[in-house]
Amino acid sequence: MDSRSRVTGDLVFFRTEFHVKQMSARVYRGRAAARGGTTQGWIALALPCGIARAYIGRPLQADVDPFRGLMSRVIAIANQKGGVGKTTTAINLGAALAVAERRVLVLDMDPQANATSGLGVPPASVERSIYDVLVEGETVDSILRRGMHFPSLDLAPSTQDLVGAELELVDVAGRESVLRGALAPIRERYEYVLVDCPPSLGLLTLNTLTAADSVLIPIQCEFYALEGLSQLLNTVRVVQQNLNPRLQIEGVLLTMFDQRLNLSRQVADEAKEYFGSRVFASVIPRNVRLAEAPSFGKPILMYDVLSAGAQAYLALAKEIMGRDAAKKPGARSVGSQKAAS
Ligand SMILES: Nc1ncnc2c1ncn2[C@@H]1O[C@H](COP(=O)(O)OP(=O)(O)OP(=O)(O)O)[C@@H](O)[C@H]1O
Ligand SMILES: [Mg+2]
Repeated sequence: MDSRSRVTGDLVFFRTEFHVKQMSARVYRGRAAARGGTTQGWIALALPCGIARAYIGRPLQADVDPFRGLMSRVIAIANQKGGVGKTTTAINLGAALAVAERRVLVLDMDPQANATSGLGVPPASVERSIYDVLVEGETVDSILRRGMHFPSLDLAPSTQDLVGAELELVDVAGRESVLRGALAPIRERYEYVLVDCPPSLGLLTLNTLTAADSVLIPIQCEFYALEGLSQLLNTVRVVQQNLNPRLQIEGVLLTMFDQRLNLSRQVADEAKEYFGSRVFASVIPRNVRLAEAPSFGKPILMYDVLSAGAQAYLALAKEIMGRDAAKKPGARSVGSQKAAS
């Protein structure tokens, strides 16, 4: 077992079984035991002070983890409405997947560069960004920042230069497919490529939808939450028909949910009525720690792992990995293992 796999081995498989209290951590082998997994090793625990290692006597073998070995997937995080939680989701879902040792790339397609700064890279310090990839033909490899907070979390940064890309690409043949071409050589390296879109349906979002396998739509549980969604869904349909037939809806994510407000519950009900099972079961609560974390350049897991926001993004990561596992060949055994646990 190399040191890297010792640090992060199989954490999220145990995610719902681990509880952290007053800086001490316990890991329950619940599902592993139910499935008879019998190995030993280290796992990583995300604590407010950083990542700690914990040894558990009989953790999972890699080959009994049903969530491993998935195909690479590009997920566009999109909603042309501003401030709905796209960037917060790109950063924190990315981190939560990376804690599970999934290989993750967060790609910042927004000239506001909030995902870049939120992961701790000041946009002013970025020499080469996604702008250079789209406009100057640089490789994605050449702009990557590797190991952002977690060994398997990489960032393709943005800067405000990207504003110009919309204009500069206008005359380029195949202008909607530039990102798809740029991602092709590297996408198989990652299990998840999460693309943070700008709040518009312009060429940058169009490029992302053309490159993506699916689109994750955050909806803020506020007034007019569903307003404009038909326009987004229409764009998705047009992309499916003309540019990218494999594009699917990954799911609709309710963000900034406040249990105390009727309004939040109404928005959740309306979203479920409209989107049915495509609404994620995991709901992101309004949580001030999520709003604070970016100013420290940290994902919530590194800023306050005990917060409701951190737990919600871990739950979302687990839900997505669970859905993916269910799609894998041989998923039947995963279902029966779930039932067993
Ligand atoms: N669950 C949450 N609880 C509290 N604050 C949140 C939550 N999610 C996001 N925020 C805050 O709300 C603001 C908007 O979030 P975010 O930047 O993720 O939205 P966005 O959709 O990416 O915005 P834009 O459209 O401008 O790119 C930010 O200040 C963020 O810190
Ligand atoms: Mg944003």
